[in-house]
Amino acid sequence: MNTLSKTFNEIFGHAATATEHASGRVNLIGEHTDYNGGFVLPTAIPQQTIVEMSKAPAGDRKARVSSANQGFKVHEYEIGKEAKQTSKEDHWLDYIQGVTCILVKEGFELGGFHARIHSQVPMGSGLSSSAALEVSFMRALRTTFGLKLDDVRLAQLCQKVENDFVGARVGIMDPMACSLADVGTALFLDTQSMEYKQVKVPEAAELIVINSGVAHRNVGGGYNTRRAECESACEALGITLLREVGMSDLPRVAKLPDVLSRRAKHVITENERVLQSVAAMNAQDPVRLGELFKESHLSMKQDYEVSIPEIDLLVELASSQKEVYGARLTGGGFGGSIVILVRKGTAVEVSQRIAALYAKASGEKPTVIVPGGT
Ligand code: GLA
Repeated sequence: MNTLSKTFNEIFGHAATATEHASGRVNLIGEHTDYNGGFVLPTAIPQQTIVEMSKAPAGDRKARVSSANQGFKVHEYEIGKEAKQTSKEDHWLDYIQGVTCILVKEGFELGGFHARIHSQVPMGSGLSSSAALEVSFMRALRTTFGLKLDDVRLAQLCQKVENDFVGARVGIMDPMACSLADVGTALFLDTQSMEYKQVKVPEAAELIVINSGVAHRNVGGGYNTRRAECESACEALGITLLREVGMSDLPRVAKLPDVLSRRAKHVITENERVLQSVAAMNAQDPVRLGELFKESHLSMKQDYEVSIPEIDLLVELASSQKEVYGARLTGGGFGGSIVILVRKGTAVEVSQRIAALYAKASGEKPTVIVPGGT
């Protein structure tokens, strides 16, 4: 597919006045903690979504949007009259229309515009293609219409797009990562206070991200069920967020009914693992960080039950390579990608080796996302 075959000028007959982008993200550790008020540690991947934009001719309230990933068909809608799409192939337009819908609801002044979108972030891979689309698109609108929005508020509005328009009850991690994280440094975010800090990956290590080839979706049942289970656990413990309990509460948590007890245990121990991971990164200790990756995966598999056999196989194959410090499922789960911490200088070769072993054993078609570019 020649995705770059039509320029903005060729589609709309004039030049773009703004070009904005946002990266996809990979979460190093801190999974299913964001909607519990906990800690997360995502970083950016090199693949980005790029949005070129210009205002429409004066007085026109129409949005015209065209995507390189969808053959450059031009979709048109009226701002303020956004509607959810019914066909699966147009689902990406929900993120677009959701952004203008929420901005208008929040009182921002938008006029008509033309937009050309090109996403390099693979979809359904658990690497936040939707947040990268929302963030890059909202940034383009911010520049085009001079919206007064800082990067944190922008991320919060993108979460609202997911929650209130798309209907996915996702947390704040993905839009915050797409809005604020950089390649090579992780964003240590406290989702309760919204305080954040940049932390560097240890110098002796680098990252691999491999997509399992089994697609994941957030609007599915599993994610929302986990959220509901966390709410039930809070009710049983007499608290409002699982963030309010810590390691010393584990004996009390163990007395909850089995499923709730395991869900809460994952969140509590995962929060602790994020703190320990930050300490390991600051101490330049990839071995300890790798151990924490392994513990996190086990917890997601056994206690939170968001892994699937293909992902477990991929993690197992990765973990058995001598250059690998640790590996784990990343993102919401039920498919998607894994993140691997590996000895510096070996990522290109080791990633190909793991992908080949996994393809042979599973029959799936894995993709190495990192190291990689577009
Ligand atoms: C998805 C959601 C995030 C977060 C992760 C799990 O990626 O969008 O908000 O909850 O799952 O850590």
